[in-house]
Amino acid sequence: MRAIAISAFGADPELIEVPEPEPRPGEILVRLRAAGYNPVDTKIAGGAMKGVMSPAFPLIMGQDGAGVVTAVGGEVSRFRPGDEVYGRFSHPARGLGSYAEYAVAAEDGPVARMPKGMTPEQAAAVPTATGTAWDVVEAARIDEGQTVLIVGATGGVGQSAIQLAALRGARVIATAAPADEDLVRGFGAAETVDRDRAAEQVRAAHPDGIDAVLELVSPAGATGPAEALLRPGGVICSIVHALDPDALAARELRGVNVINHPTPQVLTNLADLIDAGRLRVRVEAQVPLERAPAELREIAGRRARGKTVFLL
Ligand SMILES: NC(=O)c1ccc[n+]([C@@H]2O[C@H](COP(=O)([O-])OP(=O)(O)OC[C@H]3O[C@@H](n4cnc5c(N)ncnc54)[C@H](OP(=O)(O)O)[C@@H]3O)[C@@H](O)[C@H]2O)c1
Repeated sequence: MRAIAISAFGADPELIEVPEPEPRPGEILVRLRAAGYNPVDTKIAGGAMKGVMSPAFPLIMGQDGAGVVTAVGGEVSRFRPGDEVYGRFSHPARGLGSYAEYAVAAEDGPVARMPKGMTPEQAAAVPTATGTAWDVVEAARIDEGQTVLIVGATGGVGQSAIQLAALRGARVIATAAPADEDLVRGFGAAETVDRDRAAEQVRAAHPDGIDAVLELVSPAGATGPAEALLRPGGVICSIVHALDPDALAARELRGVNVINHPTPQVLTNLADLIDAGRLRVRVEAQVPLERAPAELREIAGRRARGKTVFLL
């Protein structure tokens, strides 16, 4: 099968031919039709997890994907051949990932039936970004009537976070350049602020403070201006591990560093919302697999306004 893999951390991604994986007991084998790109894919390939991950090389990149079950290992009861599924397909210790024509997943792992109204190209864009948006909105306990600032609202996680927070009845303030205001309002943002003047603009519009900040991009040391916007008892969540929860607690604020762990139940909840027309995911680029190495070289420097998927 064809796959995009790296031969070592820091090496350039390459199109290679490797044998199809065999499903082990409790696993499904899936003919993927599309793989979703996430920033973490290039971070891992660059060696960001070197100390905590011992992959087999060549390591097939990627985790998100969607396709059709073609075979099942022993003791599998949740899926059968022919089922359309989406989720995460990443087993670095076996050199396996989702940028490949075939991938495996544990049947009780992060995989679920594909949203009915989506193509595999759309569904492959959902698991990590929208799953993280779900987790961060849950962690912040976003509720009816709250005012929530989302920093990084224009990206893959942000577009879903706007929708999920608005579905809970929150008033969403989204960071967006003037050219992106319509985009974020289309997802349900009630207000927009310029990313470079966000704190100043939010303070002017909400002098008594806001209830929550979903920090999707700012690194450690750069979240102070957003923290200062919170009313006492407010919450800030980061998905890039930027917060010191103890220091925030000492200031009567709740701080949560969120790590996405997609469960079958969350993926099913997302599929239900998508099927009900209450959640959508914007795929901005569909790239043939053979063009993936070139795309991956450039993608980190590009402005993300939706998801990129690789066609398998
Ligand atoms: N903790 C977890 O489990 C988890 C899960 C998923 C993602 N992440 C991480 O979360 C981050 C965001 O992921 P993503 O998939 O949403 O990335 P993405 O699709 O690349 O989107 C990032 C967005 O944030 C915008 N942005 C960048 N800097 C900004 C700033 N200072 N103020 C306001 N907006 C800014 C970008 O706009 P421009 O392109 O114009 O700069 C882009 O639209 C990545 O670092 C990713 O690795 C963590």
